[in-house]
Amino acid sequence: MTVATTSLTRTERLSLFSLTAACIGVLANTFQGDGEPLIASLALSGVAFSSSYALIRWLGDTFMRAGFKGRDMSKLRHTEIPETMGAVCAVVYLLMLIIFIPFPFYKDIVAATSGGGNRDIVLEVQHVEHGRFLHRFPHNKLASFLSALLSLHSVVILGVGDDLFDIRWRHKILIPAFAAIPMLIVYFVDFGVTHVVVPTPLRPYLNGAILVDLGWLYYAYMAAIAIFCPNSINILAGINGLEVGQSLVIALLLVLNDSFYLLLPSTPYPHPATDSHLFSTFLLLPFIGVSFALLAHNWFPARVFVGDTYCYFAGMVFAVVGILGHFSKTLLLLLIPQIFNFIYSAPQLFHLVPCPRHRLPKFNPRTSLLENSTATFVKPLPRPVAEAMKLMHRMKLLRIKTDESGEVVESTNFTIINLWLVWFGPMREDRLAMGLLGLQTACGLLGLFVRHRLALWVFTADNLSRQWIS
Ligand code: UD1
Ligand code: MG
Repeated sequence: MTVATTSLTRTERLSLFSLTAACIGVLANTFQGDGEPLIASLALSGVAFSSSYALIRWLGDTFMRAGFKGRDMSKLRHTEIPETMGAVCAVVYLLMLIIFIPFPFYKDIVAATSGGGNRDIVLEVQHVEHGRFLHRFPHNKLASFLSALLSLHSVVILGVGDDLFDIRWRHKILIPAFAAIPMLIVYFVDFGVTHVVVPTPLRPYLNGAILVDLGWLYYAYMAAIAIFCPNSINILAGINGLEVGQSLVIALLLVLNDSFYLLLPSTPYPHPATDSHLFSTFLLLPFIGVSFALLAHNWFPARVFVGDTYCYFAGMVFAVVGILGHFSKTLLLLLIPQIFNFIYSAPQLFHLVPCPRHRLPKFNPRTSLLENSTATFVKPLPRPVAEAMKLMHRMKLLRIKTDESGEVVESTNFTIINLWLVWFGPMREDRLAMGLLGLQTACGLLGLFVRHRLALWVFTADNLSRQWIS
């Protein structure tokens, strides 16, 4: 059965139109001041929301005709709905970022091309020759922004390729590493810091060193983050609303973290980290806009699927802001459920235990509830693996079935979605998504608390305070 609603209701049309008109008004107004990039970014995010909301609805049929469709496996009828709708969001997002380019540089462009209207300025010979003040233009900031765009473009192209051709896991795991190259080059040229601050308790073991230089290992670490973020979102998936929901929670918490630096009156201005957090906010606000539009269509009962494109795109947005905004460790604190899910999944991902094509929970048509899905083992598992699984079963970290000879013949799939069902029993799809999103929010808030309050136990300074180091 095929379902696709393609038109907007009257109320939706009116609300989206009013929102767009208001945002364009605000945007036009920003030119009267200094371009006010933060306000412009907010207004563009509103436009991003309304345009992706409308486009997702209008393009559903077109996507299905082109073969971008999937069956919702957790419903009574396995309805076919449009897939890869994340591509619509990604394209709208990239266009909004392109339109946004002049805003953060408006002041600099005016100053660079006209002397900023300051008649007292003393002209030096070389400036008279060139007639412009482009040496003052913050080329490094523009390079960061453009490299972020380039990395995101690449990952979106590769993501669409995956949705089209269903690339094998062993190949697609590396996709984001190539996409990360542009921003890693800019990091090298522009920032180049490969030192990390040593936690106080570890200093005695490193001859009292405050900083250690990780050299090329630091680049390997950043590439690993770029590989981890997109893939970890893609494997914490399979129930309506979860891919977009978790990405939204992470993005909102990152903006909350940015706002500590941008809004709190206690932070000295200009704070060394202000620019990076402003950069991060500019990239995150339109992402939040397009993601809300997608969530409205992907929440239970889903009318569209997000596709791998969205998972890669979302993960890459986080990797880009974490790396170019210089807060990749804080980012990892917001990805605790994804890190746990990856470690927990490792036996299946690395084929120590057989991994079915889909590990999403199993729909029970009698109760309309989701139950944990299982993997069955035809061949006996290696002894140490089987023993480890029995131990995990006793610790309630897994549920296994054994035959009369004590051989493990079946186990629940190794994802935290299934683990949640092992702990709390069968439940409806939206309650499961809500529970996991609640967990994501709680872990993220705890992560931020640890980052800003408890970090002083192991480091001598927090970069939110005046004694900013590194
Ligand atoms: C990843 C997971 C896989 C999980 C799948 C679900 C790993 C190694 N892979 O694979 O276990 O089953 O995501 O997205 O962990 N679908 C639904 N309801 C949803 C979302 C998806 O039924 O809410 C189904 C649809 O049939 C859809 C398909 O999943 O077409 C998409 O799967 P895809 O994204 O291609 O799977 P992978 O990312 O390869
Ligand atoms: Mg997927």
